[in-house]
Amino acid sequence: MLYGMCHMINKLEKIVSLCKRRGFIFPGSEIYGGLRGTWDYGPLGSELKFNLKQAWWDYMVKQRESVFGVNASILMNPKVWEASGHVASFTDPLIECKTCNERFRADKPTDIKEHEEMHAQKKEKIFWTEPKQFNILVEAKLGVIEGEKSTIYLRGEITQGVHVNFKNVVDSMHPKIPFGVAQIGKAFRNEITPRNFVFRSREFEQMEMQTYVKPDEKEAMAMFNIMKDLRMKWYLALGVNKNKLRFREHAPDERAHYARAAWDIEYETPWGWDEAEGIHHRGDWDLSRHSKFSGEDLSYFDQETKERFIPWVIETSAGVERPLLYFLLDAYCEEEDRVVLKLHPKLSPYKAAVFPLLKNKPELVEKARNIYLSLRSDLNVAWDDRGNIGKRYYSQDEIGTILTATIDFQTLKDGTVTIRDRDTKEQIRAKSDDLGTIIRGRIDGNDFASFK
Ligand code: GAP
Repeated sequence: MLYGMCHMINKLEKIVSLCKRRGFIFPGSEIYGGLRGTWDYGPLGSELKFNLKQAWWDYMVKQRESVFGVNASILMNPKVWEASGHVASFTDPLIECKTCNERFRADKPTDIKEHEEMHAQKKEKIFWTEPKQFNILVEAKLGVIEGEKSTIYLRGEITQGVHVNFKNVVDSMHPKIPFGVAQIGKAFRNEITPRNFVFRSREFEQMEMQTYVKPDEKEAMAMFNIMKDLRMKWYLALGVNKNKLRFREHAPDERAHYARAAWDIEYETPWGWDEAEGIHHRGDWDLSRHSKFSGEDLSYFDQETKERFIPWVIETSAGVERPLLYFLLDAYCEEEDRVVLKLHPKLSPYKAAVFPLLKNKPELVEKARNIYLSLRSDLNVAWDDRGNIGKRYYSQDEIGTILTATIDFQTLKDGTVTIRDRDTKEQIRAKSDDLGTIIRGRIDGNDFASFK
């Protein structure tokens, strides 16, 4: 099949369709007609998501000194959200179309224009209500006595789980300032307009690092710049096209209630430049507010300078789903005769696929099964014996499998297999015993050709 140039929005539709067809991402609660703003990750999507989070954790936590991880509860005492300012200020401006009662964010002109055009096409007049602030915290009820259940909130950002544990981390780990506390986990927002596939959902995951620094503007901004640089390098290290990435500084009226300075890393999506993640200077907002509201002293004693102070916070806050979508968009290529996901090998759901040349030759199948099972001890490897080899190649290319190994009659004689590279389609003949090393080499960045 020959593919022509396609419109960029079309690319998003193609990704959505590929994700559904190949088991990456499904609409949430689909058999009941769905639930707007929720998505379920299928067999390949959950692998991709896991690999992405692992790549973040390795880069931000494991490879860096003075960074600690936590895993806090999603359900928290509701006072947390009063202290953090979310009950009062976690709002988006909402407007309603008086013609059809659909609600929109007043700060998203593209969505509004699209809606106005839809009514204009039907020759309908449109009137908007005045913008009003709409709180996007998701409420839940907790307790067992009917009528006495208390209202709590599903966390609107994972951040507060770190700050309320500041004292616990300091008392148990005795870190020297500056130090970081990282967390990955779910967050929930009652988004007015979920859209663009997983880009804006009502349930999503975040990967965050809160770095505690001395309350000094120079030190804080130095850390801010280190974090900006570090976060951009993460996307580049995972192979994202650098021309599709940029920084954007938030204007003062755009910043969240806690932020003194904020920059986004943006990706050029099919619908324009949009946010991947944010780097925020939160000052002493969180620890001061939690000290005040809880009555606990959340200051830090610096053993070196013998000073006591409330640290400031520099935060890096990434979603999981937005980078995941951008990695997919960036990796998606239509070539003359195939669709290929050129995902970074660390992210690929399957690191390799093993094929017996013929499904009806037991000696080939047995050899191939043995190779497949031995690789599976520490690598996620697929088995495929359906259709001809060409079809199997293209099926694996479409889901980003890095290498395929075909077991044929020569394998039975000399133990060699044909290994094909996803990106170049190049094939080499190598010992099946070396397969694990070759695959690991590709994951760690070695050139395929060096194994010849
Ligand atoms: N703790 C700071 C914080 O939560 P944010 O800019 O509101 O900051 C950080 O969110 C990141 O979380 C965003 O850059 C984005 O990647 C992700 N995110 C936020 N809202 C989202 C949504 N509705 N759907 C998917 N991801 C979202």
